[in-house]
Amino acid sequence: MTKPESLSVRAVDARESIGVNPARCETFETLMASRSAVESDACENRGVNPSRAPSIAELVTARLCRRDALKGLSAATLAVIAAPAGSVLRPEPVHAAAPAAAAHAGSSLTFPELAHGYDEDHHVADGYDAQVLIRWGDKVLADAPAFDPANLTAAAQSAQFGYNNDFVGYFPLPRGSKNSDHGLLTVNHEYTDRQLMFPGIGPEDFDKETPEMLNVELAAHGHSVVEIKREDGRWRVVEDSPYNRRLTALSSEFVVTGPAAGHDRLKTAADPAGTKVIGTLNNCAGGETPWGTVLVAEENVHQYFRGATGDHPEAANYKRMGITPRPAYDWARIHDRFDVAKEPNEPNRFGWMVEFDPYDPNSVPKKRTALGRFKHEAATTILNGDGRLVIYSGDDEAFEYVYKFVTKDKVDLANPAANADLLDEGTLYVGKFDAEGGLTWLPLVFGQQPLTAANGFNSQADVLIEVRRAADMVGATPMDRPEDVEPNPVTGTVFMNLTNNTKRKDGRLDPANPRAGNAHGHIIEMIPPGERGKRDHAATAYSWSIFLLAGNPANPKDGARYGGEVGANGWLSCPDNMTFDREGRIWISTDGAPKFGIADGIWAADTEGPGRAVTRHFYRTPRGAEMCGPCLTPDNTTLFVAVQHPGDEAKATFEAPATRWPDFKDNLPPRPAVVAITKKGGGPIGG
Ligand code: FEO
Ligand code: CA
Ligand code: CA
Repeated sequence: MTKPESLSVRAVDARESIGVNPARCETFETLMASRSAVESDACENRGVNPSRAPSIAELVTARLCRRDALKGLSAATLAVIAAPAGSVLRPEPVHAAAPAAAAHAGSSLTFPELAHGYDEDHHVADGYDAQVLIRWGDKVLADAPAFDPANLTAAAQSAQFGYNNDFVGYFPLPRGSKNSDHGLLTVNHEYTDRQLMFPGIGPEDFDKETPEMLNVELAAHGHSVVEIKREDGRWRVVEDSPYNRRLTALSSEFVVTGPAAGHDRLKTAADPAGTKVIGTLNNCAGGETPWGTVLVAEENVHQYFRGATGDHPEAANYKRMGITPRPAYDWARIHDRFDVAKEPNEPNRFGWMVEFDPYDPNSVPKKRTALGRFKHEAATTILNGDGRLVIYSGDDEAFEYVYKFVTKDKVDLANPAANADLLDEGTLYVGKFDAEGGLTWLPLVFGQQPLTAANGFNSQADVLIEVRRAADMVGATPMDRPEDVEPNPVTGTVFMNLTNNTKRKDGRLDPANPRAGNAHGHIIEMIPPGERGKRDHAATAYSWSIFLLAGNPANPKDGARYGGEVGANGWLSCPDNMTFDREGRIWISTDGAPKFGIADGIWAADTEGPGRAVTRHFYRTPRGAEMCGPCLTPDNTTLFVAVQHPGDEAKATFEAPATRWPDFKDNLPPRPAVVAITKKGGGPIGG
């Protein structure tokens, strides 16, 4: 086997050498400020999009929403200095730290705004409770042993809750009901942080990891299903439930379906038919279908494969996805399938959207190739008026694209089984934004110019395997890292979180990406034709506007714009995931705010009326964490959120983490966990 390169060689590329996910690199850049600009440049642009929008700076009259003419008022700049890693302080009570800001005129949100901050504990707005529901290492399967962080094994981890929870879905029990007190929690486990998981292992100590440690990492990736119940106002996991399930990168089997299934470019020695894959990787956000299945996104899959160079037949394809000879994980040392020299097609079997049925613990997850192969952030769905399902998905990398998929056939809500193959046929589109406020969805269909053999596409499978290149060729608009893209179920408009793009230069601005050095990100609202609540999501011509430009209004250089005056704690940075409540209000989670001295967390806003785009701070994570997975029960009385990589700061280790949240015990490391937020005395979240 090939030995890993020396650390000095690896250190040239921070993203590859320390296993930090590009999706949270702004935080990383802050906390690793001593690292070189070369290193930080690497994080947002692992893949290489050669298709850059032409310079149209003269057209940059950013299409701001109606109230963007109203500048946000000055906000106090918080001077929050983080204590050194390892100096864990006693946590404050979970909701005691927030001097309540006055309610802002016009907003329908009634909670007293939480203060910005950055400390060892999590915090929620006054009047709410935040309960840690399930943590890394907690029991999922009936035979799971107790969590023993000093002696992790792959077998134990395969039965326990995985690492770095991201997407959270809630599926009521019984199926088809709207029960908000009993259901299945479905959770993605995106990636692992070796320096916080294993004693004595630094972030770059690939060659010190034992084979067992490497297999623990594989087992800690994937997905968990757990049955949960609310009793006497508190949620609990139902241990030994027959629904409880783990999917891992180590041993779970996936079937490949759709146009690329069985294609030569997906065949391997272990799978000569090109239809069965071991594992799912980098499961970031996701979605739910109306018939009760889970959609699990495969995002930054490049960082697991030891790539090839030179005349490898997939060299250009793999370069476009960011696969290099120096992966962030050393799994190729013990598993040939992660070594491209030995399994040249394996990377083509990842980067897909996975669908499975959480109500059937024996269901085989399917990689739905019709939805394309890229770095899927999420996949959110809406049942269109014509009966077809529309799925929106962002490709989270600097200068990548936004996509939607429209099924060929109609959804059968009366018979969930009838939708078993619905996602295998349909049309994938990519977005092109123009300066007049128009959005055109361009079909990615083999045979339609320029997606022909003359350009190296010999089938729809080729188009789907190399979606990014196909999107380049049809002229899609390169965006500032599209993360969640989600329809508002009340208004029928579609919101897109663009988390940031510091590589965006003056010469590459366009109206949909209007800020150079976009450190804070923005949110775009896409508007399908039709009336409120009856919009046509299968249409190819939408309009769009900018919902907000994130950042601190007190810093003019941020160029922040909200829908009106935001409170001192109302500004946010780096929008990542989102959900909507029954009122159509948006609940935004962030990934990157610590760069600006505040913890990541949840901010909420109306999407209509005088409180439109006036964000209010609701919850914040402990040190080192990002916020993922906001998910409401059908009655809106519980908001589930996922605290990802708590304690992950520069120089933080298993022995000296930046926090020991949520247990605060000397013998326990920080643990990614799902938190259930409820209102004291009951009632809907947000009022
Ligand atoms: Fe996994 Fe784009 O966040
Ligand atoms: Ca993220
Ligand atoms: Ca994300």
